[in-house]
This record gives sequence, C-alpha cells and structure tokens, in this order.
Amino acid sequence: MTDEETEPLLDKLDAAQKVRLLTGASTWRTHAEPAAGLRALTLSDGPAGVRGEAWDERETSLVLPSPTALAASWDERLLTDLGALLAVEARRKGVDVLLAPTLNLHRSPLGGRHFECFSEDPLLTGRTGAALVRGIQSGGVAATAKHFVGNDAETDRLTVDVRMDERTLREVYLAPFEAAVAAGVWAVMSAYNKVDGVTMSASPLLAHPLKDAWGFDGLVVSDWGGVRTLLDAARSGQDLAMPGPDGPWAAGLLAALEEGLVPTGAVDDKVRRLLRLARRVGALGPDRPAPRTATAPEAGRALLRRAVSAGAVLLRNEGGMLPLDASALKSVAVVGPHATAVRIQGGGSAEVFPEHVVTPLAGIERQLDGVAAVTYRPGLPESGRPEPLGRDRSRDPRDGEPGVLVRLLDARGAELHAEHRLSGRIVEPSVRPEGAAAVEIRALFRPAESGTWTWAVGGWGDISLAVDGHEVLAGTFPLDSDDPTRVHVAPPLHTARAELTAGREVEVVALRSLAPGTGVATVLAAAPPAGDPDAALAEAVAAARAADVAVVVVGTTEQSESEGHDRESLDLPEGQDALVRAVVRANPRTVVVVNAGAPVALPWHTRVPALLLAWFPGQEAGDGLADVLFGRAEPGGRLPTTWAAAQDDVPVLRTAPDGAGRLHYAEGPHIGYRAWLRSGAAPAYWFGHGLGYTGWAYEELTAPAAVGAGEPFDVRVRVRNTGRRRGREVVQVYLARACSAVERPVRKLVGYAAVEAEPGESAVAVVRVDGRALAHWSPGRRGWETEAGAFTLLGGRSAGDLPLTARIVARPGADSAGKGSGNGSAHDGERSPLVL
Ligand code: BGC
Repeated sequence: MTDEETEPLLDKLDAAQKVRLLTGASTWRTHAEPAAGLRALTLSDGPAGVRGEAWDERETSLVLPSPTALAASWDERLLTDLGALLAVEARRKGVDVLLAPTLNLHRSPLGGRHFECFSEDPLLTGRTGAALVRGIQSGGVAATAKHFVGNDAETDRLTVDVRMDERTLREVYLAPFEAAVAAGVWAVMSAYNKVDGVTMSASPLLAHPLKDAWGFDGLVVSDWGGVRTLLDAARSGQDLAMPGPDGPWAAGLLAALEEGLVPTGAVDDKVRRLLRLARRVGALGPDRPAPRTATAPEAGRALLRRAVSAGAVLLRNEGGMLPLDASALKSVAVVGPHATAVRIQGGGSAEVFPEHVVTPLAGIERQLDGVAAVTYRPGLPESGRPEPLGRDRSRDPRDGEPGVLVRLLDARGAELHAEHRLSGRIVEPSVRPEGAAAVEIRALFRPAESGTWTWAVGGWGDISLAVDGHEVLAGTFPLDSDDPTRVHVAPPLHTARAELTAGREVEVVALRSLAPGTGVATVLAAAPPAGDPDAALAEAVAAARAADVAVVVVGTTEQSESEGHDRESLDLPEGQDALVRAVVRANPRTVVVVNAGAPVALPWHTRVPALLLAWFPGQEAGDGLADVLFGRAEPGGRLPTTWAAAQDDVPVLRTAPDGAGRLHYAEGPHIGYRAWLRSGAAPAYWFGHGLGYTGWAYEELTAPAAVGAGEPFDVRVRVRNTGRRRGREVVQVYLARACSAVERPVRKLVGYAAVEAEPGESAVAVVRVDGRALAHWSPGRRGWETEAGAFTLLGGRSAGDLPLTARIVARPGADSAGKGSGNGSAHDGERSPLVL
C-alpha cells in the first residue's frame, strides 16, 4: 500500500473517528479503526531491549549493553545488526513501535539518563542513532528518535525551560535528530521539557525544522503524559498523545475542531501520519497481527556477547598487562560486589527483564575452568540497601514456589485477584480488577543471618508491613511527584527494622492502598544485618595477595543511575575507592573493571595497571568481559564521552534550573571535549580514547587542498599496526579554524572510520566528511553558511591525541542545498544559504 492508497482512508473517517485516533487507547496501544482497516499499534520501550506491553518480570527480553556502550563501539555495522535484533524482539512481543533510540546528549556527566544517551558529540550520536534506526526499521518495526529536544538532564524534566542560542540548538542538539530523519526514522518523540518557554509537545520546532525543512513525514508521539494542553499542542506538529485513553485531546479536541479552534487540516495531517506509520509497520489493510513467539533468538545471544567487547573501553594497560594469558595463570582473585551483582542496565523506562545474566565472576570462571583457580570475595559488606525479594530469597506462601504472592484486595480486604510473581518489585499486576483498593505482597522468608534486618515497602498512600505477625511499619505517604517514573516505576521505599533468626522462616506481608493517580507499583525489599567492613576488606586483600592476578569490579547502583533524577556525585558508592586501593597495594597485577553507564570519578586511576570500562554490558556481561580479559576479543571501545579525573574539573556540570525554572546552556556549543579544550584543562581520558591490544602509528593524512561550500569530501589517513596482533583502529578526524568570524569550538569531530590490519601492515582509513562539517548556522540568514578560507583537519586517535594535520580551503560559493546536510542527510531544504 502506498501513500496515495492511504489517502482515501482519511475520507472514510468522520471527525470523531479521526480525533479518537490521536490519543492512545491504553498505556501502550493506539486505537484500532475498522473503518480504515487499521488495527491498534503497540508501542514499547526501548532502548536496552524490547519490554513489550507488560511490565512483568516473567516476560523476559534480550538485554543489550547500555547505549553508552553501543556508541563506544563506533561501529555502525554492529549497531545495525543490534537494531535488527531489536526488531526481531519487537515482532516476538507484538510491538510495532520501539521507543528508541534516545538522541539527547551528554551535556553533563550527572545527567540521570546519561547511560541511555549515546555521546557528548552530535556527530557520533547522530551516526550511532541512524545506524540503529536503520537496523530496527529493516525489520518492519518503527524506531522513535527521542526526546526532541533539550531533554539532556532529568532535574524538573517535566517543566524545565531550556534556553540556548539558535546556533547551539541547530549545530549541537538538533543535529542527531536531523541525522535520524535523514536515515528515514518513522517516529519522533517530543520531550517533556520546554525550549525557549514552550513545552516541546506544542513547540514550533515540530513544524520547523522537523517536518518542513527536514522533510520528516512520520509521526510525532508525545512522551508519556507530555501533552498537557488542548489547543497549543493540537495546533502544533504534535500528532499522537500517549498514553490513553484519557488526556486533554480525548476530552476536548473534537469540540475544539467543531468550533473551528483547531483547523481540520491540522487534524487530518496528524491522522495521515498515523496511517502512514501504520502502513509502514503492517498495521493497515487486511488483519495482519504481528507474529508473536515465546523465545528470544539464540543467535541474539552471540551478538550481545560480541557487543560487550566491542563497546568495552580499555582506558589503561600499563606494560601490556591485558590480555591475560590464561595458560600462564594458576589463580585469579575476583573482588567487588559488582562481580556477582553486576549492573547490566540503567533504571527507569528503559529497563527490561533479562532471562539470564552472565555475571563477571561466572564469565571468568567459565573461561578458566580447568585452567586456573578462581576465588571470589566481595570486599565490602552488604550495602544495607533493601533489595526486592525474589526467587532466590523467598517463597509464595500459597504454593511454596520460589517468589512472592501478589494479591489485589477490595476495600474490605477481600481478594479480587491473586498471582504468583518472581520478584518483590511489582510495577503492575497482570490485571487490575474493578474495585481494587489495595495491593498486597506476601512471602515466606528464611533469613540466612541472625540480627537486625532492614525491610522496605515501596509505593504511595497507606502502607503497612508485618513481619512474622508483628506490624513493623504503618503510615500514610502522600504522592509527592507527578513524574511518571517516580509514580509508576520506582516509587520511594519506606523502611522498618525487624530482628530475625537465621534459618527460622517468617511470613512477611506488605500492603499499600490504591488511591487514584498513585499507580499500582509496590515493592517488598529486605537487607541483611550490617556486616563488618574491615573483615570484608581483609578477606579480599588476602585473596588478592594470594592470587597471580586480581580482578576488581566496581560500579554504580540502580539508585544513582536512573531516569527521573540526576546524579548528585560522580563518586563510586562508599567503600569502592578504598577497596581498589587496597587490592592494588596487595597485588600489583590488578585489573579494575568499571561497571557504570556514565562517567564516575576514578581518583586512583593512575595507580592501577589495567583499567577496563565495561559500561552496563547487558545480559551477556560476564562472557563478553572474559573474552576481553583473556584476549579472545580485543576491547573495541573508544570513549563517546570525556572522563574527568575529578568532579570539580568538569567544565559543564550543573543540571538544575535557576529560580525561574530555566536551565541555561550558557556554554553554547562547547560541551564535552569542546568544553575541556576551551577551558585548557586536561581530563583523565579524552573523548575518542581507548586502547586495543596492538599499537598504531599514524603515518599520513591527505585531503583535498580545496573544497566547495557544502560539498562532502574524503580524508585519507594511513595507519600502521605496530604491535603483535591483528587489531581494529578507530581513526578520527577533527576540524579547526584558528581565525574565524564566528565563534567555533577549538575543534570538533567531523568524521571517523575504522580499519583493521595485521601486525606490520598499514591500512588507509577513508573518512568521509559531510559538506555540512565546514558550515555553521547563521541565525541572521536562517541558513547554513560556509566561511571561505583555510580550515585545519586533524587526524588521530582521540580529541586529545591528533598527530596528523592538513590544511583545506573552503572555496567561495553557495552551500548546495541538496547535499551535505548534517551527518549525511539526503535532503536539507533550508532556504538557500549564503557564503561570506
Ligand atoms: C520516558 C520515555 C519513555 C516513556 C514510556 C517516559 O517517562 O521519558 O523515554 O519512552 O516514559 O515509558
């Protein structure tokens, strides 16, 4: 079916039918419309995997490495393959529209969704996102570029008013979205925040440049609950309000249309876009339900394992300590709570449920099986933070099966529904019967240790907790937020203590009321008695000392890296820095693995011989990391974001709005490495940095002597493998202009390409530079302009290590509108730009 064939379908719908389509039918679905042969579309998060319609730990998904890790691969082929895998997962779960990728930028390392965004650089973000979009859509599933635009932090995200100058908006923050549109993305999600005083679900930016100048012909879906006004949003380029069935458009759009307050053409355009999206995903025409299958593809696991090593960044490798020669090892000490409780993904709407997790300890043990002895010591006592009960710790009192019993009760306490669940963290029960007034989680719990246990119930409203028949918590906790993540996904925990005896099973009952608007999410969690930190550390130190090699895994927690709030500090959780220092002192042959989705402060980084950044590595974490540690795979990652040595050094940090609710991007285009270059300070590790297992000499850079305005060109960089094994090098090209009539970053990334070579062999990286790279946005002329004259091209291995340079002259002449729009766009369509 073509666009022309979709058009008559519009005529079959009356105003009420059209308007009805523009608000969701439920949390994750749109309305069906039999008159147009349209079935309901199912949307789902994204981006770490495809969760599907249910937020239920029994419905597992393949879990990818965090987007930071994916961007670190600088590997578009891999991204496209992973996108195709996401499409297979989406089809398996009956999902038509995947709410990914996230194209906001790493403006501050404190951003709570940093792990979910790709990079601090617009070009790398745009190319990575575009590759993922192509992969997802190759499987007939829509990708959604989100959150358009300016949602680069979480503090007050529903209301914050982001202010930035027009050049920064065009050249930095809009650029990745422009690249996604150029890649043909079928959906864009408008953000919660405001830009220049207008909430993004009613922003003029949706029309211009998104729809007209860039030619986006897909659907603009709101962020969940993001459409808060009737008329402004309806008159803007906002197309679909999610979720439903309620909302300002469901309530008032039909009347507004009939009264002429919203033009018919505006509503028709929204419906036309919805129908076009439906056609693209196969939801129009004869009933074509998306195929559903129960199990994830086996081949996907191998790809996910490869993605772990492809994104892992080797920050330091003194004396070539890595890779470890397994055959030369007798013993390895694995240390750190994250070696067993690995964080595979960040928190919030991106979260999905893995069917299995390979921990770093398991991965190392597997590769050393029969070769060397592996000992494990956490090195730190239990955190004291209550973790949800689960299959490993509790039983359902009704059938004795591992897990918990969840019941929905009416106002008198009578059971309306009961189900067995595998986790004490319930985002939603599988049904919500009419009249449900309370959620109860009930479990049998056999403590492993005697002493004071900390218990917690998460949720809102009237809450109580009974342990072994004694009420230990009772109170009312009124809703204090309208952020959907805090209300529905990760409600606050309320704690109490109870003395328990090891081995004596007790029944635990948590209850919360269901007041309107407070969601259903309920959590029952527990933490064992506080352990002895000195003893834990001493055990780890002894194990490290006795082993040939120590591997320490440190990282962040679910609390620190999550949607809904920004981080307060870059520090690792308490005790981890001291643990690393103690282990390195005990055994100089120590590898430190960092398990975090975003930068953390590593005050000891120059003291450790080998430092490997694993990010949130997804479900195959341990196998992928062991591949790197023992040299089955080269660490392929290069930093997508600059890492500071200390938080105080970070040039752009603040994420909180001012007293008037405004967040000023006062640094303009100078974020990430551009900010570091401007400040003159040196970070711990530059954007682009990452070591492989071989060495490279940068031998020659050649580029055309001159280029016309707006014309793409190739830069050739010859590198030679100077090491002893085959390797892959990511060759990066930056652009600078010393004397310029306009303000520019000291330098900016304009292209990259990876090459592979055998030892001694040289290879030429052909780096395509887009015609837009030399141009800047002219607010006065509302177009792209190229300054005539000399620019410098710099080639090398990171923003701070660029041994090769060449001069290129931009010839006077008009920028050509058809070519060279940002990041490889095929259509620009801006008014004809001029050249100075
Ligand atoms: C997030 C989006 C997400 C949506 C649906 C929102 O709170 O900002 O990224 O897609 O929820 O879960």
